[in-house]
Amino acid sequence: MTGAGTGTEANEATAVNLEDVRKTYQLGEPVHALDGVSLEIPRGSYTAIMGPSGSGKSTLMNLVGCLDTPTEGAVVVDGADVATLSDRERTTLRGTTVGFVFQTFNLMPRLTALENVALPQLFQGVGRDERRERARELLERVGLGDRIDHVPNELSGGQRQRVALARALVNDPALVLADEPSGNLDTETEAEVLDLFGEFHDAGTTLVVVTHERHVAERAERIVHLLDGKIERIEELGSAGDPGETADSGRETEDR
Ligand SMILES: Nc1ncnc2c1ncn2[C@@H]1O[C@H](COP(=O)(O)OP(=O)(O)O)[C@@H](O)[C@H]1O
Ligand SMILES: [Mg+2]
Repeated sequence: MTGAGTGTEANEATAVNLEDVRKTYQLGEPVHALDGVSLEIPRGSYTAIMGPSGSGKSTLMNLVGCLDTPTEGAVVVDGADVATLSDRERTTLRGTTVGFVFQTFNLMPRLTALENVALPQLFQGVGRDERRERARELLERVGLGDRIDHVPNELSGGQRQRVALARALVNDPALVLADEPSGNLDTETEAEVLDLFGEFHDAGTTLVVVTHERHVAERAERIVHLLDGKIERIEELGSAGDPGETADSGRETEDR
Protein backbone atom coordinates (compact mmCIF):
# COMPACT_ATOMS: atom_id res chain seq x y z
CA MET A 1 0.00 0.00 0.00
CA THR A 2 1.18 3.50 -0.70
CA GLY A 3 0.10 5.48 2.31
CA ALA A 4 -0.78 8.55 0.27
CA GLY A 5 -4.13 9.03 1.89
CA THR A 6 -7.56 8.49 0.47
CA GLY A 7 -8.63 12.09 -0.13
CA THR A 8 -10.24 12.72 -3.48
CA GLU A 9 -8.99 16.26 -4.03
CA ALA A 10 -6.74 16.75 -7.03
CA ASN A 11 -3.11 17.10 -6.18
CA GLU A 12 0.30 17.16 -7.82
CA ALA A 13 0.91 13.51 -7.14
CA THR A 14 -2.26 12.43 -8.94
CA ALA A 15 -2.31 11.89 -12.70
CA VAL A 16 -5.99 10.97 -12.93
CA ASN A 17 -8.74 10.94 -10.37
CA LEU A 18 -12.15 9.35 -10.90
CA GLU A 19 -14.81 10.38 -8.41
CA ASP A 20 -17.92 8.24 -8.28
CA VAL A 21 -18.01 7.96 -12.05
CA ARG A 22 -21.02 6.59 -13.85
CA LYS A 23 -21.37 5.98 -17.55
CA THR A 24 -24.79 4.97 -18.77
CA TYR A 25 -25.62 4.06 -22.35
CA GLN A 26 -29.24 4.43 -23.32
CA LEU A 27 -30.23 1.75 -25.79
CA GLY A 28 -33.82 1.07 -24.89
CA GLU A 29 -32.72 -0.52 -21.63
CA PRO A 30 -30.06 1.65 -19.96
CA VAL A 31 -26.65 -0.05 -19.74
CA HIS A 32 -24.58 0.99 -16.73
CA ALA A 33 -21.14 0.51 -18.26
CA LEU A 34 -19.60 2.15 -15.19
CA ASP A 35 -21.60 2.26 -12.03
CA GLY A 36 -19.92 4.37 -9.34
CA VAL A 37 -16.18 4.02 -9.85
CA SER A 38 -13.73 5.98 -7.70
CA LEU A 39 -10.06 5.51 -8.49
CA GLU A 40 -6.92 7.54 -8.01
CA ILE A 41 -4.06 6.94 -10.42
CA PRO A 42 -0.85 8.34 -8.94
CA ARG A 43 1.78 9.86 -11.22
CA GLY A 44 4.37 7.36 -12.27
CA SER A 45 2.23 4.40 -11.23
CA TYR A 46 1.64 1.24 -13.25
CA THR A 47 -1.93 -0.02 -13.07
CA ALA A 48 -3.51 -3.04 -14.75
CA ILE A 49 -7.26 -3.28 -15.30
CA MET A 50 -8.82 -6.74 -15.45
CA GLY A 51 -12.38 -7.97 -15.64
CA PRO A 52 -14.68 -10.05 -17.80
CA SER A 53 -15.85 -8.88 -21.20
CA GLY A 54 -18.46 -6.15 -20.75
CA SER A 55 -17.30 -5.18 -17.25
CA GLY A 56 -16.45 -1.62 -18.32
CA LYS A 57 -12.71 -1.74 -18.98
CA SER A 58 -12.74 0.08 -22.32
CA THR A 59 -15.29 2.58 -21.06
CA LEU A 60 -12.99 3.35 -18.14
CA MET A 61 -10.00 3.78 -20.46
CA ASN A 62 -11.93 6.11 -22.77
CA LEU A 63 -12.83 8.29 -19.79
CA VAL A 64 -9.31 8.31 -18.36
CA GLY A 65 -8.00 9.17 -21.84
CA CYS A 66 -10.42 12.09 -22.36
CA LEU A 67 -12.03 10.36 -25.33
CA ASP A 68 -15.37 10.49 -23.56
CA THR A 69 -17.09 12.20 -20.63
CA PRO A 70 -18.96 10.56 -17.74
CA THR A 71 -22.73 10.60 -17.33
CA GLU A 72 -22.20 11.42 -13.65
CA GLY A 73 -19.23 12.00 -11.40
CA ALA A 74 -15.91 13.66 -12.16
CA VAL A 75 -12.88 12.67 -14.18
CA VAL A 76 -9.92 14.87 -13.28
CA VAL A 77 -6.92 14.57 -15.61
CA ASP A 78 -3.82 16.56 -14.78
CA GLY A 79 -5.88 18.69 -12.41
CA ALA A 80 -8.58 19.52 -14.99
CA ASP A 81 -12.16 18.28 -14.63
CA VAL A 82 -12.70 16.86 -18.11
CA ALA A 83 -16.43 17.62 -18.13
CA THR A 84 -15.80 21.37 -17.76
CA LEU A 85 -13.54 21.53 -20.81
CA SER A 86 -14.69 22.44 -24.30
CA ASP A 87 -14.23 19.79 -27.00
CA ARG A 88 -11.23 21.69 -28.19
CA GLU A 89 -9.63 21.94 -24.75
CA ARG A 90 -10.29 18.26 -24.21
CA THR A 91 -8.60 17.43 -27.53
CA THR A 92 -5.61 19.54 -26.57
CA LEU A 93 -5.33 17.93 -23.14
CA ARG A 94 -5.52 14.51 -24.77
CA GLY A 95 -2.93 15.40 -27.38
CA THR A 96 -0.43 16.75 -24.89
CA THR A 97 -0.96 14.35 -22.00
CA VAL A 98 -2.16 10.98 -23.22
CA GLY A 99 -0.68 8.28 -25.45
CA PHE A 100 -2.95 5.43 -26.58
CA VAL A 101 -2.05 1.91 -27.59
CA PHE A 102 -4.95 -0.09 -29.00
CA GLN A 103 -5.15 -3.79 -29.72
CA THR A 104 -5.93 -3.05 -33.34
CA PHE A 105 -3.02 -0.62 -33.59
CA ASN A 106 -4.99 2.05 -35.52
CA LEU A 107 -2.06 2.93 -37.74
CA MET A 108 -2.54 4.99 -40.90
CA PRO A 109 -2.26 2.36 -43.67
CA ARG A 110 -0.69 4.61 -46.29
CA LEU A 111 1.93 6.14 -44.06
CA THR A 112 5.30 4.57 -43.32
CA ALA A 113 6.29 3.58 -39.81
CA LEU A 114 8.31 6.78 -39.53
CA GLU A 115 5.40 8.93 -40.74
CA ASN A 116 2.96 7.20 -38.41
CA VAL A 117 5.18 7.83 -35.42
CA ALA A 118 5.95 11.41 -36.47
CA LEU A 119 2.28 12.30 -36.93
CA PRO A 120 1.19 13.16 -33.35
CA GLN A 121 3.92 15.77 -33.10
CA LEU A 122 2.35 17.68 -35.98
CA PHE A 123 -0.20 19.00 -33.52
CA GLN A 124 2.52 20.06 -31.08
CA GLY A 125 4.11 22.55 -33.45
CA VAL A 126 7.30 20.53 -33.81
CA GLY A 127 9.27 21.18 -37.01
CA ARG A 128 9.52 18.52 -39.73
CA ASP A 129 13.15 17.53 -39.26
CA GLU A 130 12.77 17.34 -35.53
CA ARG A 131 9.60 15.25 -35.89
CA ARG A 132 11.37 12.77 -38.14
CA GLU A 133 14.42 12.62 -35.90
CA ARG A 134 12.33 11.99 -32.82
CA ALA A 135 10.24 9.36 -34.64
CA ARG A 136 13.40 7.60 -35.81
CA GLU A 137 14.74 7.63 -32.25
CA LEU A 138 11.55 6.07 -30.89
CA LEU A 139 11.44 3.43 -33.63
CA GLU A 140 15.02 2.50 -32.85
CA ARG A 141 14.12 2.26 -29.22
CA VAL A 142 11.37 -0.26 -29.98
CA GLY A 143 13.72 -2.23 -32.21
CA LEU A 144 12.42 -1.09 -35.60
CA GLY A 145 15.26 1.13 -36.78
CA ASP A 146 15.51 -1.00 -39.93
CA ARG A 147 11.79 -0.80 -40.75
CA ILE A 148 11.11 2.92 -40.71
CA ASP A 149 10.12 3.13 -44.37
CA HIS A 150 7.70 0.19 -44.29
CA VAL A 151 3.95 0.75 -44.38
CA PRO A 152 1.85 -1.20 -41.85
CA ASN A 153 0.88 -4.08 -44.14
CA GLU A 154 4.57 -4.73 -44.76
CA LEU A 155 5.04 -5.32 -41.03
CA SER A 156 4.15 -8.22 -38.74
CA GLY A 157 1.57 -7.84 -35.99
CA GLY A 158 4.26 -7.44 -33.37
CA GLN A 159 6.08 -4.86 -35.43
CA ARG A 160 2.86 -2.92 -35.95
CA GLN A 161 2.21 -2.95 -32.24
CA ARG A 162 5.70 -1.60 -31.64
CA VAL A 163 5.06 1.18 -34.18
CA ALA A 164 1.84 1.96 -32.28
CA LEU A 165 3.79 2.02 -29.04
CA ALA A 166 6.41 4.35 -30.49
CA ARG A 167 3.63 6.61 -31.76
CA ALA A 168 1.96 6.63 -28.34
CA LEU A 169 5.24 7.66 -26.72
CA VAL A 170 6.52 10.17 -29.24
CA ASN A 171 5.10 13.22 -27.48
CA ASP A 172 6.48 11.96 -24.18
CA PRO A 173 3.00 11.72 -22.67
CA ALA A 174 2.56 11.78 -18.92
CA LEU A 175 -0.02 9.02 -19.26
CA VAL A 176 0.04 5.95 -21.52
CA LEU A 177 -3.15 3.92 -21.88
CA ALA A 178 -3.08 0.51 -23.47
CA ASP A 179 -6.22 -1.55 -24.14
CA GLU A 180 -5.26 -5.21 -24.64
CA PRO A 181 -1.91 -4.17 -26.12
CA SER A 182 -0.59 -7.70 -26.44
CA GLY A 183 -3.83 -9.42 -27.37
CA ASN A 184 -2.70 -10.01 -30.96
CA LEU A 185 0.94 -10.80 -30.28
CA ASP A 186 2.90 -14.02 -29.98
CA THR A 187 4.54 -14.78 -26.65
CA GLU A 188 7.98 -13.52 -27.55
CA THR A 189 6.78 -10.23 -29.04
CA GLU A 190 4.45 -9.76 -26.11
CA ALA A 191 7.38 -10.04 -23.72
CA GLU A 192 9.27 -7.42 -25.74
CA VAL A 193 6.36 -5.00 -25.65
CA LEU A 194 5.89 -5.55 -21.92
CA ASP A 195 9.60 -5.00 -21.32
CA LEU A 196 9.24 -1.67 -23.11
CA PHE A 197 6.34 -0.73 -20.87
CA GLY A 198 8.59 -1.55 -17.93
CA GLU A 199 11.28 0.75 -19.28
CA PHE A 200 8.87 3.61 -19.71
CA HIS A 201 7.49 3.00 -16.25
CA ASP A 202 11.03 3.15 -14.88
CA ALA A 203 11.46 6.45 -16.72
CA GLY A 204 8.44 7.90 -14.90
CA THR A 205 5.55 7.40 -17.33
CA THR A 206 2.16 6.67 -15.78
CA LEU A 207 0.80 3.46 -17.30
CA VAL A 208 -2.67 1.95 -17.37
CA VAL A 209 -3.00 -1.37 -19.16
CA VAL A 210 -6.19 -3.35 -19.78
CA THR A 211 -5.61 -7.06 -20.12
CA HIS A 212 -7.26 -10.45 -19.85
CA GLU A 213 -3.97 -12.08 -19.04
CA ARG A 214 -2.83 -12.50 -15.48
CA HIS A 215 0.87 -12.56 -16.43
CA VAL A 216 0.47 -9.25 -18.28
CA ALA A 217 -1.31 -7.69 -15.31
CA GLU A 218 1.40 -8.89 -12.95
CA ARG A 219 3.90 -6.57 -14.61
CA ALA A 220 2.00 -3.70 -12.97
CA GLU A 221 2.09 -2.43 -9.40
CA ARG A 222 -1.58 -3.07 -8.81
CA ILE A 223 -4.51 -4.72 -10.49
CA VAL A 224 -7.93 -3.09 -10.50
CA HIS A 225 -10.56 -5.80 -10.93
CA LEU A 226 -13.78 -4.60 -12.56
CA LEU A 227 -17.07 -6.45 -12.42
CA ASP A 228 -20.38 -5.17 -13.79
CA GLY A 229 -19.12 -1.59 -14.00
CA LYS A 230 -17.83 -1.52 -10.43
CA ILE A 231 -14.45 -1.99 -8.83
CA GLU A 232 -14.66 -5.43 -7.30
CA ARG A 233 -11.27 -5.16 -5.60
CA ILE A 234 -7.82 -3.65 -5.97
CA GLU A 235 -4.90 -6.00 -5.69
CA GLU A 236 -1.58 -4.43 -4.68
CA LEU A 237 1.47 -6.12 -6.17
CA GLY A 238 4.27 -3.91 -4.90
CA SER A 239 6.87 -2.42 -7.21
CA ALA A 240 6.74 -3.19 -10.90
CA GLY A 241 9.79 -4.52 -12.68
CA ASP A 242 12.82 -5.51 -10.64
CA PRO A 243 11.71 -5.53 -7.02
CA GLY A 244 15.25 -6.08 -5.77
CA GLU A 245 17.15 -2.84 -5.72
CA THR A 246 15.02 0.24 -5.55
CA ALA A 247 16.38 3.48 -4.20
CA ASP A 248 12.86 4.44 -3.26
CA SER A 249 13.54 4.60 0.44
CA GLY A 250 11.25 7.56 0.97
CA ARG A 251 8.18 5.44 0.58
CA GLU A 252 6.83 3.39 3.43
CA THR A 253 5.97 -0.15 2.54
CA GLU A 254 3.72 -2.15 4.76
CA ASP A 255 3.55 -5.35 2.81
CA ARG A 256 4.39 -7.58 5.70
N1 LIG B 1 -21.12 2.96 -27.26
C1 LIG B 1 -21.84 2.10 -26.53
N2 LIG B 1 -23.18 2.08 -26.62
C2 LIG B 1 -23.91 1.23 -25.88
N3 LIG B 1 -23.41 0.37 -24.99
C3 LIG B 1 -22.08 0.33 -24.86
C4 LIG B 1 -21.23 1.19 -25.61
N4 LIG B 1 -19.94 0.95 -25.25
C5 LIG B 1 -20.00 -0.02 -24.33
N5 LIG B 1 -21.27 -0.39 -24.09
C6 LIG B 1 -21.72 -1.42 -23.12
O1 LIG B 1 -21.14 -1.08 -21.86
C7 LIG B 1 -20.68 -2.24 -21.20
C8 LIG B 1 -19.19 -2.12 -20.94
O2 LIG B 1 -18.50 -2.14 -22.18
P1 LIG B 1 -16.92 -2.06 -22.28
O3 LIG B 1 -16.45 -0.92 -21.49
O4 LIG B 1 -16.57 -2.08 -23.73
O5 LIG B 1 -16.50 -3.43 -21.58
P2 LIG B 1 -15.11 -4.23 -21.65
O6 LIG B 1 -14.08 -3.36 -22.30
O7 LIG B 1 -14.80 -4.55 -20.23
O8 LIG B 1 -15.40 -5.46 -22.42
C9 LIG B 1 -21.05 -3.41 -22.09
O9 LIG B 1 -22.27 -3.93 -21.64
C10 LIG B 1 -21.20 -2.79 -23.44
O10 LIG B 1 -22.08 -3.52 -24.23
MG1 LIG C 1 -12.89 -3.66 -24.05
